Amino acid sequence: MNKLQGKVAIVTGAARGLGRAYALRLAGLGAKVAVSDLNLKSYAEFEAEAKAMTADSTTDEILAMGGEAIGIETDVTDEAAVQAMVNRVVQTWGRVDILVANAGGGRGRPMDTKASTLDSGLLHLVTEMNLYGTVYCVNAVAPVMKEQRSGRIVTVSSIAGLGPSPDGGYAHYGAAKAAIAHYTRYLAQDLGPFGINANCIAPGVITTGRIMATVVPGSINANRDRSEQMALRRLGSVEDCAKVVEFLVTDLSDYVSGQVIAIDGGMVRSG
Ligand SMILES: NC(=O)c1ccc[n+]([C@@H]2O[C@H](COP(=O)([O-])OP(=O)(O)OC[C@H]3O[C@@H](n4cnc5c(N)ncnc54)[C@H](O)[C@@H]3O)[C@@H](O)[C@H]2O)c1
Repeated sequence: MNKLQGKVAIVTGAARGLGRAYALRLAGLGAKVAVSDLNLKSYAEFEAEAKAMTADSTTDEILAMGGEAIGIETDVTDEAAVQAMVNRVVQTWGRVDILVANAGGGRGRPMDTKASTLDSGLLHLVTEMNLYGTVYCVNAVAPVMKEQRSGRIVTVSSIAGLGPSPDGGYAHYGAAKAAIAHYTRYLAQDLGPFGINANCIAPGVITTGRIMATVVPGSINANRDRSEQMALRRLGSVEDCAKVVEFLVTDLSDYVSGQVIAIDGGMVRSG
């Protein structure tokens, strides 16, 4: 099961949550993994994330399982820093085969971020973290992948980017994530002739430490079991998403590009 032996992967936002799960899975498949995050110990912010750690960082976890990894602290909203991060990966391992542009997320509360009353500071921040961060990472890896004439890019949207919330809240995040999904369709057209596949995943409600501590308790559905909204009657796990990333970065998806794949258990987003 060393499908990714010899491959080099970059996962952004990999210090905790979904990004950590992607990094561990790719390392488990034999890839050398650059674990990139604004804060390589961000797991400390949430008790459940800290508890899940088996070593001091995602990088150390990969090294402990016999894999190869480097940790690079990078803010994806800083274009020069992203370029420096990718340069370091290329200097270390000579190539980049996989980018999982996972860093991102929302800020503010749904009730304060309705579509018609968006604060411009929050709109800028969330668009930068998500859309700009994704574009900067792609800009930095694309020349390397083009030269190799191969590569896999996975971007990260959200169900919030596929359809609106029932009350119009969290519009800045939804708009940024919708932009990532559509950007990825353009990306697939641009890079396809170079043998590079680009696809986007749109997770639903995934039980990361952050989601369970902050989003689920504060949501408009806080007083009811969110799993009722899912056809599969359960919330998602980080592994549910990591399995789809595995599909998108291995030969199983050789002829798949420009797609946006929801990983939401068949969720219906109604009040
Ligand atoms: N958890 C969910 O249910 C869910 C659902 C839909 C989409 N997503 C998306 O999946 C991705 C990961 O979500 P998560 O729940 O694991 O989030 P999380 O907040 O638990 O982890 C995000 C990681 O990204 C890092 N990060 C934040 N800003 C950064 C920046 N500017 N530069 C570099 N790193 C930065 C953080 O330090 C953190 O380690 C995000 O893009 C999020 O929007 C998550």
